[in-house]
Amino acid sequence: MLRVEGLTIRAGSRVLVDDLALAIPDGRITCLIGPSGCGKSSVIKWLSGILDRSLEASGRAFLDGRPVPRPDPALAYQPQQDALFPWLTVAENAGLGLEMRGQSRRDARARVLPLFAPFGLEGCADAFPAQLSGGMRQRAAFLRTIVQDTRFVALDEPFSALDAVTRLRMQDWLCARLTETPRGVLMVTHDLHEATQMADRILVMSARPGRIVADIPLTTPRAARTEAALADTRSTLKSLLLKETS
Ligand SMILES: Nc1ncnc2c1ncn2[C@@H]1O[C@H](COP(=O)(O)OP(=O)(O)OP(=O)(O)O)[C@@H](O)[C@H]1O
Ligand SMILES: [Mg+2]
Repeated sequence: MLRVEGLTIRAGSRVLVDDLALAIPDGRITCLIGPSGCGKSSVIKWLSGILDRSLEASGRAFLDGRPVPRPDPALAYQPQQDALFPWLTVAENAGLGLEMRGQSRRDARARVLPLFAPFGLEGCADAFPAQLSGGMRQRAAFLRTIVQDTRFVALDEPFSALDAVTRLRMQDWLCARLTETPRGVLMVTHDLHEATQMADRILVMSARPGRIVADIPLTTPRAARTEAALADTRSTLKSLLLKETS
């Protein structure tokens, strides 16, 4: 389990995130939802070691109870913005996480290419990011993250730019992949359908300052969740979010 404790993030005298604690269990999808601006990306950036230097943060991260550095090598991160390098091809971008973990560019390319078709990126390996649509760039960024096969992944609104059908396809792909090879996932989303379909647990964050105000387990296996039960959970989440945004 990867745990965060006592995370406080400040911008000058303004407290963005206040004494936040959360856990990312192995083999489970934990969704983090909350009003825009409540600090979801800041939490995930802190955990990934790339929080803006103008912000001040204190807190600790633990892996299996032991303090770990940030970024922890056991975690791969997909930022909210795709952050592809414009001077690298799509295949080079997709393989960059693997290269940073020590693989050669050639091995990284061989590893990512088979995923281009299922990710709807066929024919794009040698294109540059500027030649892709926003949704394609987002899938390339997702590919760069997921292919690293880390024990944990942090995904910041990974499917927000995708059309409805592609989004469902990518959600199914991720769930199927996690069934084959369980990994701990922390996923930020604004989509309550996505959260209730995919999550094993949903954490709700408050705004001003950011704190976890609800922790909702979804214990029914994904395939057995009925539309009525999902609608019920969405309604609970909606009430919590309305309270946080009012
Ligand atoms: N570098 C920065 N300097 C000052 N304030 C910042 C900085 N980065 C983020 N913030 C502020 O921190 C708060 C949280 O931002 P963050 O991006 O974490 O929110 P979020 O929950 O991810 O929002 P969204 O759902 O819109 O992506 C916001 O009020 C934002 O203005
Ligand atoms: Mg964000």
